[in-house]
Amino acid sequence: MKNNFYIITYGCQMNHYDAGIVKEILQQEGFQPVSNENEADIILLITCSVRAHAEARALGRLASLKRKSNGNRVVGILGCMAQNYQRRLIDEFGADLVVGPDGYRQLPSLLKACLTAENKLAVGGRRPVVGGFLKECYEGILPKPEPKAVRGFVSIMRGCDNFCSYCIVPYVRGRERSRDYKDIIKEIEFLAKSGVKDITLIGQNVLAYHSGGLDFGGLLKEVEKISGIEWIRFVTAHPKDFSEPVIETLANLKKFCPCLHLPLQSGSNRILALMRRHYTKEEFLKKIKLTRALIPEVSFTTDLMVGFPTETDEDFSETLTMVEEIRFDFAYMFQYSPRPQTAALKIKPEVDPKVAHSRLEQLIKVQSRITKENTERLIGKEFLAMVEGSKGSQTLARTKTNKIVVLDNGKPQAEGEIIKVKIIGVRGWTLVGEEKKEAK
Ligand code: SAH
Ligand code: SF4
Ligand code: F3S
Repeated sequence: MKNNFYIITYGCQMNHYDAGIVKEILQQEGFQPVSNENEADIILLITCSVRAHAEARALGRLASLKRKSNGNRVVGILGCMAQNYQRRLIDEFGADLVVGPDGYRQLPSLLKACLTAENKLAVGGRRPVVGGFLKECYEGILPKPEPKAVRGFVSIMRGCDNFCSYCIVPYVRGRERSRDYKDIIKEIEFLAKSGVKDITLIGQNVLAYHSGGLDFGGLLKEVEKISGIEWIRFVTAHPKDFSEPVIETLANLKKFCPCLHLPLQSGSNRILALMRRHYTKEEFLKKIKLTRALIPEVSFTTDLMVGFPTETDEDFSETLTMVEEIRFDFAYMFQYSPRPQTAALKIKPEVDPKVAHSRLEQLIKVQSRITKENTERLIGKEFLAMVEGSKGSQTLARTKTNKIVVLDNGKPQAEGEIIKVKIIGVRGWTLVGEEKKEAK
């Protein structure tokens, strides 16, 4: 049987995590991963539906893979687009197999069915679609870290129940569910034994975590006890649930890395209400200030969106004001993209895409200046950083505040070592540092 596979991943950390799940499920059934797409009998695209542009990229890749393959390999669509488009991906776009985020356990049998008929791939007859929601948490599947990886990612929950009015995620990922904390701990222990020291807990809103009487703070305390794990991070925290007790818990943790991704989206209270975000700009600001008071070294990053229906110049200027006031270290910035099924489709009038685009350009300009200024302000400061790898004679290390530092030290260090670095300059947006001798 032809059984080499190659995975191409789009979208957020959840999909990257799921790539590990898919790989593990397939390997357990005798499928072999290959590192070169051209050698693969099976290519699986794990796709994202969050914006139209993300979908267009994956569809373009699907079309070019199909052209190159001459019917000689299976090209499957997994992930959020599988859930969003279902059979249309087969009928209109030529995919050989469509499996949504809860259906990955069925992949081995579905692929075997595609592949058997005299080793002919993707024969016309059977082209399966799996697109229901099963409340799947993939118990018992332990994705393996990359060899030598010092960073690891663990999904602590799946799905989302927030239904922000612009967002397709709840429709393509299903209801929010927390994984059993015992499974999470087991998985992190496994990663720690494989050499992972810097762990990131992931979910669409990790602050909603609850399992076996543990809330998110409780889970963090359990993760702290795992020997070998030195640093703990998480994404994403929904601002509405980022409360005073949460901030206090974080301030008291020893292994928590002071970097927080807190998506603001907009600085206008009217737009935030239409987005169904359940916080005001004043509440958001108060939380930022409290965190900075309790955790002075904290680094904030965010997501911002322009061009939400009915957004006026005035609303947009409130976003700019918030960005200037908070001075995020970094922001992912997007132009609103209408998504099927979402409530925002009914909100009129839409913003002229040309106007939205020019707002996005303006916002990027402002935030880029702030990012540059914040980066340059770090020159002369000292940080702990974990060595992640090397590039020629350079060492790459990551600070607790999630910034990459390049060291031109000519003697690459062992991955996972925690060193003290002094920032001596900035190259582009990257920090350049030198090692201080008194390593921790
Ligand atoms: N769960 C995370 C976000 C997941 S999606 C959270 O709540 O923050 C990542 C980002 O994509 C969002 O923060 C938002 O800024 C952006 N996004 C989501 N839907 C979008 C849409 N329809 N158009 C443009 N950007 C969108
Ligand atoms: Fe989408 Fe909102 Fe859920 Fe984030 S919290 S995934 S933006 S619905
Ligand atoms: Fe995209 Fe799905 Fe993540 S829509 S942002 S890959 S949850």
